Amino acid sequence: MPDSAAKAGNPLKLFHLSDIHFGLPDPTALSWVEQCIESEAPDVVAITGDLTMRARHREFDAACRWIRSLPVPVTMEIGNHDMPYFNLIERFVDPYRRFRGIKALLEREIILDGMAIVPLKTTARAQWRLNWSKGWITRPALRKTLDAIDALPAGTGVIVTAHHPLVEAGTDGTALTHRGGLALRELARRNVLAVLSGHVHDPFDLIEQTDEGPVRMIGAGTLSKRLRSSPPSFNEVSISDGVVSVRARNLADVATADMQIDDIPEDAMPPRRPGEPIAPIHAVPPVDPPVH
Ligand SMILES: [Fe+2]
Ligand SMILES: [Fe+2]
Repeated sequence: MPDSAAKAGNPLKLFHLSDIHFGLPDPTALSWVEQCIESEAPDVVAITGDLTMRARHREFDAACRWIRSLPVPVTMEIGNHDMPYFNLIERFVDPYRRFRGIKALLEREIILDGMAIVPLKTTARAQWRLNWSKGWITRPALRKTLDAIDALPAGTGVIVTAHHPLVEAGTDGTALTHRGGLALRELARRNVLAVLSGHVHDPFDLIEQTDEGPVRMIGAGTLSKRLRSSPPSFNEVSISDGVVSVRARNLADVATADMQIDDIPEDAMPPRRPGEPIAPIHAVPPVDPPVH
């Protein structure tokens, strides 16, 4: 259901947050982001999934409380960590039940002045492979996104939000987001300004070439303690006259170019080993903090 928010003038300021992972958030980073949102009042906050660690009720309670307290319009995606993990019946029958009071913010389209944020779901209740943490775009999910884009007035600038990066490795064994390549080509045909995503816990800002033209892919880092090669961060995305600019803001004062990885890991999982894409600051921790 589209949400219309009247907005006069340019540029549009969007805060792109991802992978907060309530259950293991970074409290310092989170309260800093909260202050930034309060004092700078972005037009929209887009959260590209992985709100929780294990989709536990207490994690969702904390996530719902935090998100409801934000004084600006919010849209968010479901991440692979947000599907019921221990309760398979609920996962299949009612996977969004735990979002409770913020269900209305989930996968919602936001229309601003000459701009639209259109969600694309990249998670599925089940997949025909063992690792369900990877991206999976169903045909109905892609159709829904494309129909929403096609229904917009001509000339609308479109930003697509998804949890998993859409890069497709092109082989069965290492395919990351299933149908990601098809989705990218369809988005390229529609000239979307950018696809925002999360999941790999490091920021990036890349151009992916497709048969239908290039697509800008922008990733946000994490606000959790599950760090990869960059400190906790969020993206400030500014859109002015169809030009998108990105700043990977962080408390460590690392420059945006040094925060961003220059490639997306083949299996769209966070970089963990040497040889995988690493931001210039090389900060991959040897082990993740324990999750209780
Ligand atoms: Fe994540
Ligand atoms: Fe994820």
